[in-house]
Amino acid sequence: MVKYLTLAVAFVGAAQSKDIFVSPSGTGSGSQTAPFGSIQSAVNAAVAGDNILLRAGTYKPTTNIQITKSGTRTSPITLRSFEKEKVIIDGESLPGTPYGLDESLPNKERGILHIEKGNYWKFYNLELINGPYGIYARDASHNYYELITTHDNYETGFQLQGSSSNNTVIYLDSYRNRDPRKNGESADGFACKEGSGEGNVLRNARLWDNVDDGLDLFMFGSAVTLEEVYAWSNGFNRWGFSGFNGDGNGFKLGITDNPPANHIVRNCMAFGNAKKGFIDNGNPGKLTVERNTAWNNGDVGFNFRSSTSSLTKNIAAVNVGSAQVTLVSSVTASGNSWQSGSWSNTSFESVNPSVLKGARGSDGRVKASGFLIPVGKDIGATTRADI
Ligand SMILES: *[C@@H]1O[C@H](CO)[C@@H](O)[C@H](O)[C@H]1NC(C)=O
Ligand SMILES: *[C@@H]1O[C@H](CO)[C@@H](O)[C@H](O)[C@H]1NC(C)=O
Repeated sequence: MVKYLTLAVAFVGAAQSKDIFVSPSGTGSGSQTAPFGSIQSAVNAAVAGDNILLRAGTYKPTTNIQITKSGTRTSPITLRSFEKEKVIIDGESLPGTPYGLDESLPNKERGILHIEKGNYWKFYNLELINGPYGIYARDASHNYYELITTHDNYETGFQLQGSSSNNTVIYLDSYRNRDPRKNGESADGFACKEGSGEGNVLRNARLWDNVDDGLDLFMFGSAVTLEEVYAWSNGFNRWGFSGFNGDGNGFKLGITDNPPANHIVRNCMAFGNAKKGFIDNGNPGKLTVERNTAWNNGDVGFNFRSSTSSLTKNIAAVNVGSAQVTLVSSVTASGNSWQSGSWSNTSFESVNPSVLKGARGSDGRVKASGFLIPVGKDIGATTRADI
């Protein structure tokens, strides 16, 4: 009896959802044989449970895509490439790419995808380039983003902001984002900024060559979980900005004032960034920082000057700062590299990041390698397994 009821409910749910097709050359009204030409038309037509399927090619919208409606917990709305087709959304024709130095970028214009009060969406396998931010999600919760690539945008590649909770971002690649409008002051790979909300997670992400920081949690007042996030080569002036303002930290984990945010940072790597590997940036909270590796950054590996964080089994090695770490006495540290032995490049199986930087595996994950895995010691980050 219970079984029959479950089947009946599932059938009703399935009967209500539809597939909506879009193609860069479409002129139709959303069927597979006559797809829409605009992603916005498909968003406008979608209701809870629908799947928006983008056919291969480059989309070049002239107004950004506004997502302000919601799915439901059991019937999210999905926006994805059709099967494994390669979809690029090029924002170069949008306003603000870029605006002039010190001009403002109005909220609504932020993002090739501007998600505001849009909840219960799922996004898969999309590449967003040359936009005024790639993805900008504000006051948006319960969304899931998988295999998104954001690069060469004129602000942060992927930003969550405002009252936003329970978002999951997995397998993000975000690189070469820059902000000529601010001379490099604010374009990061990933940011969760200026707001609050529990349950936001970034996992198995790569953030590189961005003008400001790899990742920034500036003024976000709730715990964010970061796992298997790799940030490298951020904070260099690759664009010849005069009056360069890029900060160049791998992971900027804080806010400059109360409330504290007890972020969790686990199994992450920061290397080759212009400045520091991991910093609390004034966050007075109790962060859990375990099994991360900061290597070959232009300043100290870990700089925790305000928090009561616990740092466990991390590695800071070959950083070019005056010390490997700068920690206030309120920080609890145990089992970290700087607490035993001396460390150099030869402490690791490999200091060659080419596998980490290469193609992801078919499961979406960064491929495993011996990069920065210490010989004979079980501490620091590893791409070999979840820890
Ligand atoms: C976030 O998800 C958790 C676990 O599913 C749930 O308990 C919590 O209520 C959610 N938070 C919000 C703000 O919806
Ligand atoms: C460590 O190895 C990296 C990568 O080969 C290199 O750039 C760096 O100069 C080396 N540092 C030292 C102190 O040997």
